[in-house]
Amino acid sequence: AQNARESLYIVSQFAGNFFEDQLWNTPEGKAIGLSYFKERGFREDIIKKFNLGYSPDFWDALTQDAVKNKHAEEYLEKTGLAIRNDKGKLYDRFRGRVMFPIHNFTGRIIGFGGRTLKTDKNVPKYVNSPESDIYHKSNVLYGLFHAKKAIRDTDNCYLVEGYADVLAVHQAHIENVVASSGTSLTIEQIRLIGRFTQNVTILYDGDAAGIKASLRGLDMILEEGLNVKVVSFPTGDDPDSYMHKVGAGAFKSYIEDNRQDFILYKANILLAEAGKDPIKRAGIIRDIVESIAKIPDNIKASVFIRECSRLLEVEERILLSELNTMRAAKL
Ligand code: GTP
Ligand code: MN
Ligand code: MN
Ligand code: MN
Ligand code: MN
Repeated sequence: AQNARESLYIVSQFAGNFFEDQLWNTPEGKAIGLSYFKERGFREDIIKKFNLGYSPDFWDALTQDAVKNKHAEEYLEKTGLAIRNDKGKLYDRFRGRVMFPIHNFTGRIIGFGGRTLKTDKNVPKYVNSPESDIYHKSNVLYGLFHAKKAIRDTDNCYLVEGYADVLAVHQAHIENVVASSGTSLTIEQIRLIGRFTQNVTILYDGDAAGIKASLRGLDMILEEGLNVKVVSFPTGDDPDSYMHKVGAGAFKSYIEDNRQDFILYKANILLAEAGKDPIKRAGIIRDIVESIAKIPDNIKASVFIRECSRLLEVEERILLSELNTMRAAKL
């Protein structure tokens, strides 16, 4: 079994080299893939650092080259790089897409995300590798290999939604960033971050889906006993689009100046929805205490209760009794 896994790593690395070579050294790759990344504002050093690539718009370009280089069809199939059609012939999963290799935290390629260059709504924007013996997407954070040293050094991990966001934040000289990409944040991913730092800062997209995901994510992070802050982006922007809009320097200042602790973040979102309606406001207070109730550490929880009391102008003892009721109900 060890050898079989090793063969999956080897064919994945072969594919990574193939896609990268296509991007830099072929007319199609340069004209379509490389210009795409450049038009989006990505610098060459970032494109190289993340080993980005291009998959030719051809039925079986990778498969043919891999077989020619003595890679067994079995491993192409098991990594999902190739798919067998009803006639028994293999064809490439990724065709005519820009490629983002996914590394595990020791730096080995375990899968890929491929982004379409088409604007056609019927084509999925991203295609990802399927689960395999070396790729379990719920246990992987995109960018962790390139981020782990900076996460330790800064004692903080920025969490973004997508591949492009990781690249953009790196380009702004912030290297402690990972993405849950292709899946909503999992407990396993939070525990993985917890091996490097206890502090997470969420930088999700400034749209309804991003806000919803951030509220769910922050509760999960609190429940794992980590500290969480949030930076929101203007409506319609994500870290990638915002960085390219304002530039690296302004982006860095923006995330440093707009970091909110989770209570303030949650209160602002919910209060904006509720307006002056007192019944809705009461609901919000309960909702925030519910998040605080997830914090395993009692002392930390009591500090947040105090902050919540100040912010929402509710007596601390009322919040505390609500907190205790919720905790009792959970036991
Ligand atoms: P860009 O348009 O390239 O900037 O993408 P984005 O990273 O901003 O994508 P988006 O906010 O739409 O989604 C965030 C992440 O979710 C992406 O980086 C992907 O990992 C994943 N994702 C997005 N669209 C799809 C899809 O159609 N299929 C799958 N499987 N994953 C997707
Ligand atoms: Mn994924
Ligand atoms: Mn999005
Ligand atoms: Mn996005
Ligand atoms: Mn984006």
